[in-house]
Amino acid sequence: MIDISTKITGIKLDTCVFNTAGPADVTLEELEVIAKSGSSAITMKSCTLEPRNGNPEPRYADLEYGSINSMGLPNLGYKAYIKFSKILKKKYPKKPIVASISGLTLEDNVVIFKAFNDTPVDIIEFNPGSPNTIGKPIVGYDPQDLDRLLDAVSKVTKKPYGVKLPPYFDLVHYEQIANVIKRYPVKFITCVNSIGNGLVINPYTEKPFIKPKGGLGGIGGKYIKFAALANVKVFSDIFKGKIQVIGVGGIYSGIDAFEFILAGAFAVQIGTAFLQKGPGIFKKVQEELKDFMALKGYKKLSDFRGKLKTLDK
Ligand code: SIN
Repeated sequence: MIDISTKITGIKLDTCVFNTAGPADVTLEELEVIAKSGSSAITMKSCTLEPRNGNPEPRYADLEYGSINSMGLPNLGYKAYIKFSKILKKKYPKKPIVASISGLTLEDNVVIFKAFNDTPVDIIEFNPGSPNTIGKPIVGYDPQDLDRLLDAVSKVTKKPYGVKLPPYFDLVHYEQIANVIKRYPVKFITCVNSIGNGLVINPYTEKPFIKPKGGLGGIGGKYIKFAALANVKVFSDIFKGKIQVIGVGGIYSGIDAFEFILAGAFAVQIGTAFLQKGPGIFKKVQEELKDFMALKGYKKLSDFRGKLKTLDK
């Protein structure tokens, strides 16, 4: 028997594979598709104080090896997700619910975090890593801003919470961000949000693929897997399991998931591949992960989690 269950913030997940905040998780109908799929948790769309239509269309495009998006946080507002969490918990009591919060100001985040205290939501994922809010920088790239936000939300939340981070590329930034995160009761980090502000050009039309920000958007899918793996590995080495790391970025197969766990991830999330392949992707990744573990002689995730070997003799 191969066991791919895991615990995030002490909450048991039947498997370590679930959906990431963002793709196809805005409406109750979409969330029910996730609830009925193999996803081991139901992550809801990042919510803001007020409902948002998001950025002008076209704002998402499939690419050969992934996607570009500048959705701009289209969502129904946090009150809708509180309502949905109650409905989902009644209908699917065994599936943990993850609320994703992406308030546009510190004050908004405080209101939303507080409001989720008395709900059936199991885990909160704070999302200061979106590159797509026009006129606003990526908060996760500003340690002081992140510090102020974590300080404020930590004081009001009663739920276990984690932070979904943008990808970092310079080792000094990992240290800066880790030092901020360590000051607060952050239980996990999710690495990584899309690589912000990429540009994809159609050479035939001589136009970008998406409209917002002159064509700049977050890159997801296979293009970002190696950046995501690096972020998982470096943060896992820094936090040594005291703060769990969840991996996301370019996971299409069980072997992709295996690599993330080898780099230190306690669970993996799926984004672009869910949009492109549909809800069957969760079971496919889980089955392939089990098959690959069987091939390697591993029975549970802790047999290899964080045990990436080196090329030293
Ligand atoms: C979006 O709605 O713009 C995507 C969400 C994210 O980047 O976190």
